[in-house]
Amino acid sequence: MPVSHETGAKDKQLIRALRGEPVDRTPIWLMRQAGRYLPEYKKTRAEAGSFLELCYNPELAEEVTLQPIRRYGFDAAILFSDILVIPDALGQAVAFREGEGPVLDPITRAEQLDELDLGSVVERLEPVYETVRRLKRSLPAGTTLIGFAGAPWTVATYMVGGRTSPDQAAAKLWAYRAPESFQKLIDLLTEATILHLTAQVEAGAEAVQIFDTWAGSLPEAQFRAYTLAPTRKIVHALRARFPNLPVIGFPRGSGALAIDYARETEISGIGLDTGMSPAWARDNLQPLACLQGNLDPLLVVAGGEMMREAARHILRTFGGGPFIFNLGHGIVPQTPPDHVAELVELVRATK
Ligand code: CP3
Repeated sequence: MPVSHETGAKDKQLIRALRGEPVDRTPIWLMRQAGRYLPEYKKTRAEAGSFLELCYNPELAEEVTLQPIRRYGFDAAILFSDILVIPDALGQAVAFREGEGPVLDPITRAEQLDELDLGSVVERLEPVYETVRRLKRSLPAGTTLIGFAGAPWTVATYMVGGRTSPDQAAAKLWAYRAPESFQKLIDLLTEATILHLTAQVEAGAEAVQIFDTWAGSLPEAQFRAYTLAPTRKIVHALRARFPNLPVIGFPRGSGALAIDYARETEISGIGLDTGMSPAWARDNLQPLACLQGNLDPLLVVAGGEMMREAARHILRTFGGGPFIFNLGHGIVPQTPPDHVAELVELVRATK
């Protein structure tokens, strides 16, 4: 029987699901489970100063990672950090402004790529790995520690566009007008992601998730080049070093291309976005990977019977195969913490 490189991990429900092994109950965690919907998060966040200072403070980052575990006893803790620590570590300044989200000095010319410093990524992100080591010691025995990174395409949209954009136009136009230099950026980010995830696993992460939030904006050819191919490279590089490492992909908005994504990247689990039909995913994706998802985060804001019925529908549809309960995207700040408690209770009460 395959066991993780980490002792004890074979007994964790979430790891078992990712390996396609039988579980005692459906494991659950929620994307963005640490965050502004929790009063205790807001308190620690204020103590830290800026958002990035929180990400780079191992003691406080450990604390906010643990907050949702204490409250709800999720099956997994996701390292508290952000996908934009990669551009920050490469030397492109990143700031998070209140009410505005991330702001970067955009990279608009190929020559600027030479200024990015791949060699110091791991050194600059050392506080993040220290957070992982601390969590490894402080997490309850049954809780899986998930490390993560943004996928190269999604991180590139922020580096080139300088902020969250509704259409990812800046990155797409670079890719269409100058595919050779855009590929250089994707290759650099692929290497940086491999280094960053490898360091997280060495520090104690037991599974990793690759967030491709903007995968759905790409036409098929570019999806294959900028989402599928780099993710496959990352999975292969990690597996060469950690043969049993569970890797979860989240190609948000990929639709039917999720089939080739799951097959060709050989990820262990696939995160389903809110729009993905559960029956379709069960029939087409569950034979290829453990499914993770996909309750609408706004249903957790609304709560009540609408939330409960949608959660039950997901549990019924995916219950026959490997499955991890989660949302279709991150939990939003206006979510009442009581609704999350009710959701966890419902999932726990279902075999
Ligand atoms: O519980 C967790 O999931 C904690 C770790 C985590 C954060 N961001 C913390 C965070 C993770 C896994 C992320 C991923 C992330 N970051 C993604 C991919 C997933 C997704 O949601 O699509 C993306 C695109 C980012 C980039 C990012 N970071 C944006 C666009 C924003 C601003 C929007 C917002 O929610 O404020 C952030 C900030 C951010 N990252 C916050 C948190 C808790 C809020 C910042 C604050 O406290 O002020």
